[in-house]
Amino acid sequence: MNHLLTMSGLTLNEIENILHEAEQFSEGNSWKVDHQMFVANMFFEHSTRTRNSFEVAEKKLGLEVLNFYAESSSVQKGETLYDTVRTLESIGINGVVIRHHENNFYQELVGKINIPIINAGAGTGEHPTQCLLDLLTIKQEFQTFKDLNVAIVGDISHSRVAHSNYDALTRLGANVVFSGPNEWQDNTGKFISMDEAVREADVLMLLRIQHERHAGQMGNSKEEYHQAYGLTIEREKTMKKHSIIMHPAPVNRGVEIADELVECDRSRIFKQMQNGVFARMAVLKRAFETQKINELTVQL
Ligand code: CP
Repeated sequence: MNHLLTMSGLTLNEIENILHEAEQFSEGNSWKVDHQMFVANMFFEHSTRTRNSFEVAEKKLGLEVLNFYAESSSVQKGETLYDTVRTLESIGINGVVIRHHENNFYQELVGKINIPIINAGAGTGEHPTQCLLDLLTIKQEFQTFKDLNVAIVGDISHSRVAHSNYDALTRLGANVVFSGPNEWQDNTGKFISMDEAVREADVLMLLRIQHERHAGQMGNSKEEYHQAYGLTIEREKTMKKHSIIMHPAPVNRGVEIADELVECDRSRIFKQMQNGVFARMAVLKRAFETQKINELTVQL
């Protein structure tokens, strides 16, 4: 079963295959399922990019899409995630895309559910399809990950994007460092000052403050945060000529990045969103192509 749960669960070979497939899709290649198959998008947390780019990717692949809304479902009557997914499997859904507030939500499903599960963002844990679209964007720019200096800046400890990217980029040979407020460091990776991160990075990956995962109030005002840890107009001038700015979005303009820089020449923020469709097409193809082979094997 070709689930996609974490980046660390993928071998380097599997990552390279998914990126290759995503590149093919970005160049106009197409692939479609050859019989009716259903996929359910189950979002237990809010989303704009991930939900909609999954839906576009699914429709491009000829999948029938069901959008499951937790707030109007029997989850509100106490039904568990397992019983919900088991129900969808019983009524003929062939795969599920799930965003959930629990880091390890998939543990109650794997081995019990016989359809592919794709993690569309899990708490503060992992966001593997965001990572794959980030890798695709970096690869398009630099052709390689080896020895690239990648600085991930901001709310590291609450960021599933930081965790997935640290794992994958490190294994692919990049030098990954973190920067931002000390209280949001976690135990992974080297931490450097914001000014050093901006000067040294080939890829400067900015993160938003995950207010929804913070127990208390933020100490700094937005302006104070911007001056201390944000990409200001002045800091951007110290970036290397070829360096790029990335951000998984949503962006808080004027906080982690100056409003004017969101769409500047070195920003790849909207390119990342475009690549999200291609990366998700590749992930879905991997999941549904294998399922078809499994179904045929069962029939034989
Ligand atoms: N980057 C990302 O996951 O965006 P959404 O929360 O809008 O899906």
